[in-house]
Amino acid sequence: MRRRLNARITGVGMYVPDEILDNKFFEKILETNDEWIRTRTGIQERRRLNSGATSDLATAAAKDLMEKHDVNPEDLDAIIVATVTPDMFFPATACLVQDKIGAKKAWGYDLSAACSGFLFGLQSGAALIESGNFKKVMVIGADKMSAIVDYSDRNTAILFGDGASAVLLEPTEDESLGLQDSILRTDGSGKDFLFMKGGGSLNPPTHETIDQNMHVLFQDGKAVFKVAVKGMADVSYELMQKNNLNADDIAYLVPHQANLRIIDATAERMGVTRDKVMINIDKYGNTTAATIPLCLTEYYRAGKLKKGDKLILAAFGAGFTWGASYLVWSLD
Ligand code: COA
Repeated sequence: MRRRLNARITGVGMYVPDEILDNKFFEKILETNDEWIRTRTGIQERRRLNSGATSDLATAAAKDLMEKHDVNPEDLDAIIVATVTPDMFFPATACLVQDKIGAKKAWGYDLSAACSGFLFGLQSGAALIESGNFKKVMVIGADKMSAIVDYSDRNTAILFGDGASAVLLEPTEDESLGLQDSILRTDGSGKDFLFMKGGGSLNPPTHETIDQNMHVLFQDGKAVFKVAVKGMADVSYELMQKNNLNADDIAYLVPHQANLRIIDATAERMGVTRDKVMINIDKYGNTTAATIPLCLTEYYRAGKLKKGDKLILAAFGAGFTWGASYLVWSLD
């Protein structure tokens, strides 16, 4: 009988571009100010990639992981890239990354779940590992949000940044480590609150779609705010109940970084104190699929994560998509 395999994280990597856009940058181009941005969102600065595409961000994160954890690209079995800013419709960004890093034996695909992309990718990658057929699966969250942000819209321009982060999943027979459980959801009736309407088969690119500004992100921030807090908190609580966890058992809540007020409200509803919440929104803003693995990578590298730590990862994004995962940290 095949033994049960858990997927555990055996490597992490990240990349953010060098260019920093601080809040003062937006004061110059929009009717906004540093104080509003900091108090309403928690964001102080974000990064922007000037030349290159999402595959370049993802490739740099993958290379960082492989270098730090001594991984040979030819040993990779699969690459999943979670993104809403693929280099192009096709080929998939995963194919471009596969080529750029020399992962000669890997297959892979892109996954579109917006800000929940990393959680959906983690669960998908874990299923490949648990099948017993694949030994090394890289899951990358990468987005070049600057490619689809409207820099004349103060409601959205200030929120997003570019970045990428990768994790490597490998099997373990130690059931106490790795991904334990996930609750993931979608609700397409949320499609009118957060979207980019142009460019796809519904509205193929024309001069008209460009004139109507359909190739940039639109968000009804207030509406999304409310459902994001409820969605993230409810599903995280449900996951904790299902796995007999209470707030004291959790080493960290690792929330998607969209707005510090959403993060605080989610933590409060879960009964988790601020010192147990991973936060880096101040430095990077909302990097969409990259926020959660960026947090994991930075906290791990800062020595704040130890093997056996119980983590609840939670996200909410366009779709709507949302969910929570229960992960036991497995890197020394
Ligand atoms: N600077 C100054 N004022 C701004 C501003 C900015 N950058 N952006 C919006 N405002 C204004 C609005 O125009 C509005 O003015 P009005 O009252 O004259 O119309 C006022 O601030 C309040 O706007 P509101 O939308 O109520 O602000 P908010 O407190 O809800 O914050 C967001 C706006 C976008 C920061 C917040 O709603 C949010 O984070 N939403 C969810 C984001 C999210 O989770 N996304 C999901 C995953 S990506």
